[in-house]
Formats: sequence, C-alpha cells, structure tokens
Amino acid sequence: MRLAPRVGGVNCLFVGAGAVAADYAAGLAESPLSLAGVCDLDPERAAALAGDHGAREFTDLDRALATVDAPVVVNLTGHAAHAAVTEQALTAGRHVYSQKPLALDADRARELVATARRRGLGLACAPAVGPAQRLAGRTLADGRTGTVRLCYAHAHVGRVTEWHDRPASFLEVGPLYDGGVYPLALLVAWFGPVERVRTADSLDVWPDREDRTPSAPSHIEATLAFAGGPVARLSASLYVPHRAREFYGLEFHGDDGSVYLGDTGALGTDRDTVQFGRAGRGYTPVPPQAPPTERDRLDAVEAFATAIAAGDPPRAGGRRASHIVAVCNAIERAAETGEPVAVDGHGATADPVPAPVGRPAGNGRHAAANGDRDGPPGRDAAIRLPPVGLGCSRYRGEEYVDRVDSIAQALDAGYRLLDSAELYGNEHRIGDLLAAPGTPDRDHLFVLGKVWRTNHRREHLLEACAGSREELGVETLDCYSLHWPAAWAHQGALERLAEQPVERQEALTFPTDADGEPVTADVSLAEAWENLEAVHERGWARTLGVCNVSVDQLRTVLRTGSVPPALVQVEVHPYQPRPELVEFCHDRGIRVVAHSPLSAPGLLEEPVLAAVGEEEGLSPAGVVIAWAVTRGVVPIPSSTDPDHLVANLAAGSRRLPAEAMGQVGSLRDPAFER
Ligand SMILES: NC(=O)c1ccc[n+]([C@@H]2O[C@H](COP(=O)([O-])OP(=O)(O)OC[C@H]3O[C@@H](n4cnc5c(N)ncnc54)[C@H](OP(=O)(O)O)[C@@H]3O)[C@@H](O)[C@H]2O)c1
Repeated sequence: MRLAPRVGGVNCLFVGAGAVAADYAAGLAESPLSLAGVCDLDPERAAALAGDHGAREFTDLDRALATVDAPVVVNLTGHAAHAAVTEQALTAGRHVYSQKPLALDADRARELVATARRRGLGLACAPAVGPAQRLAGRTLADGRTGTVRLCYAHAHVGRVTEWHDRPASFLEVGPLYDGGVYPLALLVAWFGPVERVRTADSLDVWPDREDRTPSAPSHIEATLAFAGGPVARLSASLYVPHRAREFYGLEFHGDDGSVYLGDTGALGTDRDTVQFGRAGRGYTPVPPQAPPTERDRLDAVEAFATAIAAGDPPRAGGRRASHIVAVCNAIERAAETGEPVAVDGHGATADPVPAPVGRPAGNGRHAAANGDRDGPPGRDAAIRLPPVGLGCSRYRGEEYVDRVDSIAQALDAGYRLLDSAELYGNEHRIGDLLAAPGTPDRDHLFVLGKVWRTNHRREHLLEACAGSREELGVETLDCYSLHWPAAWAHQGALERLAEQPVERQEALTFPTDADGEPVTADVSLAEAWENLEAVHERGWARTLGVCNVSVDQLRTVLRTGSVPPALVQVEVHPYQPRPELVEFCHDRGIRVVAHSPLSAPGLLEEPVLAAVGEEEGLSPAGVVIAWAVTRGVVPIPSSTDPDHLVANLAAGSRRLPAEAMGQVGSLRDPAFER
C-alpha cells in the first residue's frame, strides 16, 4: 500500500493497547500521524485508547484491517504475539513497525522479512536510535578509542512483577528478547553481525516470595563475537532490579580509551549519558553539542512513514531485527548445550545484515564531528566549526598556568576546535597530546594557529608557521591567523616559549623601547596578509584568518588580498558584542570566533545573566556561551576546572529565545575597555 507523497495525515492502526501503546500515543498530538484504529483482544483497553484519540476500536485484527484505511500498522502487542500480528498485517498489504523483538524464532523472522520484500512493503522494528545512542556512536567513530576489543552490555529489565501492570508477557519470554535487544541492536549497527556465541549460561533465579515466576530463564549471560572485531559480554536479567547501579549500560573498551553509554534505551540525552575514558585517565562526560530535541517513541514510526512516503519502504530495520532474533536463539541454544554456536547457521535473512556504521567521512572544510550548522545563516561558503572551541592560552590575569591537563580533558569531553598560538608557548605540549593514544583522529579536529606580531615579515612568518606545525605535529593547520594586524620588531624565533624563564618569554614577545612603548615594525597589514597567503600557497594551512581587527582593517584585507579570510577572531562578550563586525563577517561568509568570552571584569557577576540563567537552567557563563552560539559566533572559553570545561561545552548546545537575547543584549557597554 502506497502512502501519499507527503507524510502529512498518515493513518495508523495500533495493534495492542497496553502501557507501551500509551507511550506511543502520547506523541500523536505533535505528529502528522493520526490514529485511525486501535485493536486489542481486551475490549476495554481498545475502547479506552481509541476513545482518547477519536479512533475506531476493534478486538478482531482481520476486521480492523478490513475496515480501517491505515497504511501503517504499529505492532504493540505482547512479545509472543509480534510475529503473528506482523504477518497478518503484511499479508493485508500494510507496512509494519513492530515493537521488539520482531519474532521469537529466527525462521519466523526471516519469513517476515521475505514477505515484506515480496510485497514491496516496509518492515521496521524497535528499538530506534536516539540522540544519546548517536552521540555514543560518534564518540566511537572519531578514532579515540583505538581498536575496540571488548564490550560490556547490561540489560537489567528488573522484577517486572513489581513495576509492570501486566508482566505475563515478560515472564514468558525472559529478559533476552526484551531488554537484551537494546544493546544488541546498537552493537550490530556498530560492529556488524554476531558471528558466534562463544559462551552462554542461563539461570533460574527469582525471589521465593513471588507467586508469579518466569517460565523462561530469568537471567542470561553470554559472550558474543562480532564480525567487526570485538567480543561483547551481555547480561540480561529479570532478577537484577531495574534500579541496579548498572541498568542498561553499555561500555566499550578499546586499546586507547573506553566509551560508556549509560542507557541504551534512553530517548533523550543529558550531560552524563555518554562518557569517555582515555587510557590512564578517569571518565569525562561527553555532553551533547546539538540543541536538545523533544523526542518520543512515535518519532521512529514517523520516520518510517516518511521513508515510505518517499517511495523507499525501509527493510533494513527488519533485516537487522531478524538477525537479532537469530542471535537470541543462538544464545539460548549455547546455554542449553554448553557449546559455542555459530550464528551463521541461524542466518535469519538471505540478505547480509546491513553493514556496520562506518566512521563519518572527513570533510575538507569541516573538521569536527559535532560541527554546528548554525554559523552565518545561509552562507554556504563559510567554514563549519563546532559551536564552542577551547582557548589554549596559558595567560590568566598576570599569571601563566599549565594547561596540559585541561586541554586533555577538553579533548576527552568532545572539544574539537583548539585555539592555539605561538605566543601561548605550549604548542609542543599540545602536539604531545595530539600524538598520544586516546586523541581523536586528525580529521575530527580543527586546529587554529596564530603567528605573533613580531613575525610578520615573510621569512619570519614562514619560519613561525613551520615551527608551529612541527611543534603541534600537524601537517596542515585548519586555519592560520595573524594574532594582531599591526607588526612589532622581530626578536627571534618563539620556540617552546613555555620552557623559557618568564622574563625571557616577555622580552621575546613584547619588545619595548626605553619609554616602555612597543617597538613596531614597518610591515603593513596588506603585506602581512600577503605573507600569510604564502603559508596557504604551500598547503600549510587550509584557511587563513586574522584577529583583533576592525571592519576597516578587514576591508583592507579583502581589497588587497587574494585569499579571503575564512575566520576573524575578536574579543566578543555581552559588554562588547560588536554587532557591526559580526554582521560584516557573516554577510561575507567569514566565521567570527569570540576570544576572552568570559573574563571581562564583573561580567559573570551581572544579575541579568543570573536571571536568564535561572530561567534557562544555565550558569552565567553558560548564558554567555549560549548567547554567542545563538548569534552564530563561536566562543573559545578557557578553563582549568573540569566541571566548567564540560559545562561550557554543553552550553554550546543551547539556543536562547529572543527575549533572553534581548536581556543579555542590554549589557552592551560602548565604553568597555580592558
Ligand atoms: N586572539 C587574541 O588576541 C586572543 C586574546 C585573548 C584570548 N584569546 C583566546 O581566547 C581564549 C579564552 O580567553 P581567556 O583565556 O582570556 O579567558 P576566558 O575564556 O574569557 O575566561 C577564562 C576565565 O573564566 C573562568 N571560567 C571558565 N568557565 C567558567 C564557568 N563555566 N563558570 C565560571 N567561570 C568560568 C575561568 O576560570 P576556571 O579555570 O576556574 O574555570 C577563567 O578564570 C584564550 O585561551 C585564547 O585562546 C585570544
């Protein structure tokens, strides 16, 4: 059955009207899907759900299918009924989205996939992949774990007799075909099919006081060998309480680091849902960097209906679900026989299981896995940057601080834009970090370098850039920038500054005359830019930038240069929002990076920021970061505090409403000066 070309107003028939059906139905109000009918063997349940949504009610599926004009059937029956209901609906020419599992038997699952294929119908099966699972997938794909060799998966469904109003279906099938499917679905998506069940064991553990007891084993332990390499240990249990410390956790261990996903079934994601642990370091939260979206269970059905409307009935979900049934069958057999079981022989589908998710491809102009799309609106030529970057300067007021640990933690948390400079003197330390195990692949990082103002002459600039590339261990910088538009007198190369005595560092970088005034050099901005272009010509930097410029200076660069700046870095915060410069840049596809976003004296104590923060659930620093990101400006806060580092990154996923933007905008102070 074909849908109208657009998904608007697609009718669905819900089969099964229990607790999970109510979860799906909760999304209907906001969805283009409409509920045309509800079928349940229990007339009261069918009537209650149908009544709530103005749908027709049925107790007989044949009648429902014959009566209701609904191209999509959503199969929300008990576990053991899934296969029969799906078959009946497919046979009646309906596309089917089924609750997990697709079936309890691999041969049956394979037949369903074959029926859908023969009839050109869509077949998909829960669980769907949500933002938390995608974030974990990206964390796995950006290269910092090294080869993943072991995974631990928990599916602690818990004592269903205590938390479910109708636990019979769970007690009948056991934990494997319910909770076990969540981690299996992700593992198969990321590492390909299970080749072999290496070991399996089942236990009949259950409290003596309970009258209602599971008829399937209540606890399963299995180790599975995946085609993509790792071995996974899976524990699925009705005995272990669902409030156990490990609930639906999935943990991957690679040569260089580990990734933890707190809940394989989570619909949303928060700061701690995904964590990364670099070898030799503790775990760090990997906060989401995309704006949070309201998600509900119906989203997957909507996506399914959309694909069908586009003329592409999805079958891959059915094939994968069918393989998972085969894996569950193999685990049961291995537990019975005490022998390993090859899943090949259980081939649940004639087609290969869909290929595992590969690494996101590196993109020439975009280096960050979590790169934002906000940027300058509609300016396709602009480079894509992550919403928030990390400032790597060692300067703190009048002091120098060591940044190695905070930069390492920031990389672990998911920062993918590093703002470095030869002036900061720690490029060699950043280089050591980038070369160390547990660091993301180079093409997932945006490395920004800057030439100091004593090196604007061509030979000095080329020497400075070569030195920075060598210290950072980077063949091509993502952007190389003038740190300031005006030149100062050359004082010699600035190598490994952090290792020099402070007086020496300052003498090399801040040349002054007898009156304490800077000693300038006769290199115009146009000439310095031309010298910077030589770096680009040599392929040492993909793009060029300039810091601390006015609109007029930027016009000079644009007029005289042949490579336009891709990035401008200036001090931007609520006291100094620079709307004209930001607009000038955005109109020309130039990204604006906000340096020193948090350190303006008194800024973080502003009552307005506290008030907006209270409303938005952000700290004052979080409000400043979200304010910048909402404008399409990329803030690069620095911090040595582990919590601040994570919170600043997480704030980059937030967008402020217009009213809050106006409140923060009221802090503008035209007289602001450092
Ligand atoms: N191109 C240029 O000319 C230029 C000039 C200046 C700076 N920059 C770049 O901009 C980067 C950032 O500027 P910056 O280093 O001057 O400082 P900043 O990021 O504006 O502020 C850093 C200060 O804010 C605090 N902080 C950070 N997160 C916080 C939070 N969530 N809550 C409360 N306090 C928080 C830090 O303390 P904790 O450590 O305790 O968190 C630190 O004292 C530099 O690292 C550098 O890369 C470029």
